[in-house]
Amino acid sequence: MMNKEKVLIFDTTLRDGEQSAGASMSVEDKVEIASKLNDMKVDIIEAGFPFASKGDFQAVKKISEISKYSVVCGLARAQYKDIDAAGEALGYAKRRRIHTFISTSNLHMKYKLKMSKKEVLDSIKKSIARAARYTDDIEWSPEDASRTDLNFLYKSIEVAIKSGAKTINIPDTVGYAIPEEFGNLIKKIKVNVSNIDKSVISVHCHNDLGLAVSNSLSAITNGARQIECTINGIGERAGNAALEEVVMCLKTRSDLLPFFSEVDTKKITLISHLVSSITGFPVQPNKAIVGKNAFAHESGIHQDGMLKNSNTYEIITPDSIGLSSSELVLGKHSGRHAFKVKLSDLGYEFEEKKINMLFKKFKDLADKKKQVFEEDIYALIDDEKNFKKKNYIELLDLSLKCGTIKKSEATLKLSIFGEKKTIKKTGNGPIDAIFNSLKTIIPNKANLMIYQVNAITKGTDAQAEVNVRLEENSITVQGLGSDVDTMVASAKAYINAMNKLIMKRKKVLDSKSLLQTSSSKLDKHVI
Ligand code: KIV
Ligand code: ZN
Repeated sequence: MMNKEKVLIFDTTLRDGEQSAGASMSVEDKVEIASKLNDMKVDIIEAGFPFASKGDFQAVKKISEISKYSVVCGLARAQYKDIDAAGEALGYAKRRRIHTFISTSNLHMKYKLKMSKKEVLDSIKKSIARAARYTDDIEWSPEDASRTDLNFLYKSIEVAIKSGAKTINIPDTVGYAIPEEFGNLIKKIKVNVSNIDKSVISVHCHNDLGLAVSNSLSAITNGARQIECTINGIGERAGNAALEEVVMCLKTRSDLLPFFSEVDTKKITLISHLVSSITGFPVQPNKAIVGKNAFAHESGIHQDGMLKNSNTYEIITPDSIGLSSSELVLGKHSGRHAFKVKLSDLGYEFEEKKINMLFKKFKDLADKKKQVFEEDIYALIDDEKNFKKKNYIELLDLSLKCGTIKKSEATLKLSIFGEKKTIKKTGNGPIDAIFNSLKTIIPNKANLMIYQVNAITKGTDAQAEVNVRLEENSITVQGLGSDVDTMVASAKAYINAMNKLIMKRKKVLDSKSLLQTSSSKLDKHVI
């Protein structure tokens, strides 16, 4: 039996993940995700970038208050104001970390920072000294490390450790590295940085070439002991290393990878679903570990093999990621007990009052469709959550006239900022009529970038899940809606996207006013 070493799992879904174009999370969404990350025993939660907006500050503060297991981390540029905001937001955390960073590649120093190497080194010292006022758990990152001149990278790391950084995070910021090269970079850092033994090496890989997980694994086999990742791999551009892939690689190939993580893999399915429903980013069906098809065996040969012995075509059991293996379907005769058992199979532990409310919705759904599948129950829970949220706009009623002769006509009753309004518009087909109505009654300059419909399950009575992407003045948002009626699901998705757009507009205004009140050097990302 190999002696296994622990790899720390640092989740940045709430920070880098939220930087994905179109993702937006409210404070309460973030707290909900953080509480699940905490339950699944993620070592460190990067809860946000407190100086960036009031919402980020609040989220980090609230997550600090609730996190019992995970260390809570706040991101800060090499600026006193950033670091002070992070220190303040993390004030209530049982265990807190400040993660501060500055670019070290020639390209970034010359064009983005307009700073010399000496100025950057100086800034590293000052920022870490400032962070030390709040915590001794300081992480430092040389942004664009994988394109940084090696000697300067070694020097910067040495200075950061000497100044008090306990974790040195090596980001492949633009997802440029390939596994052997990235592993070698970690090896070289271990050999050439004189004080490296005083810190933990972390890696933060982006997925622009689809190599984020491979690069992260290559790094740990060469000495890194922390991996930064996100649920479903969301993140800036092509995203970050996917947490579920990283931890399942460690677990499944422990014969070759002598490492372990503390993460409870049985919570993966639940949190993957939660992040997808909150951000509005659907998980692609063939996505490793959490895709809908990850455990589906389509070909007859495979199905035959699976019936004889599941090891023939399955390297991971559905159970190990918390995917219920029973195909138990519910229907209109299913009782409250069966429904409650199903919720618990899916990983949900709700209070009796909430179960009663969901059970009522389940009964309504079961009246409309014969068989209720697990995916339907997920949609039901999301819908209830969206309904319960304080939304700016709510759909009260929708009726439609459509057919082959006349133009389609939609009538919508809405609550807009608490005021009831009705609108009727025509369009080229029912969806166009619905969206024309919404655009008229909620004036906006948003362009519809994506309109996508998926059947959640099989059958002609399946619920439709609609995904809408809107873009307005460089702000992108995703909205999701589900219903047995595709038109209702479409209206819900557009409204969900509009609610997020309003929230994001406020956030942009927030961060602009914060940026304006800070020092003139702020845009240079330095002290
Ligand atoms: O990708 C990156 O370089 C980052 C840093 C802030 C660590 O996200
Ligand atoms: Zn990043």
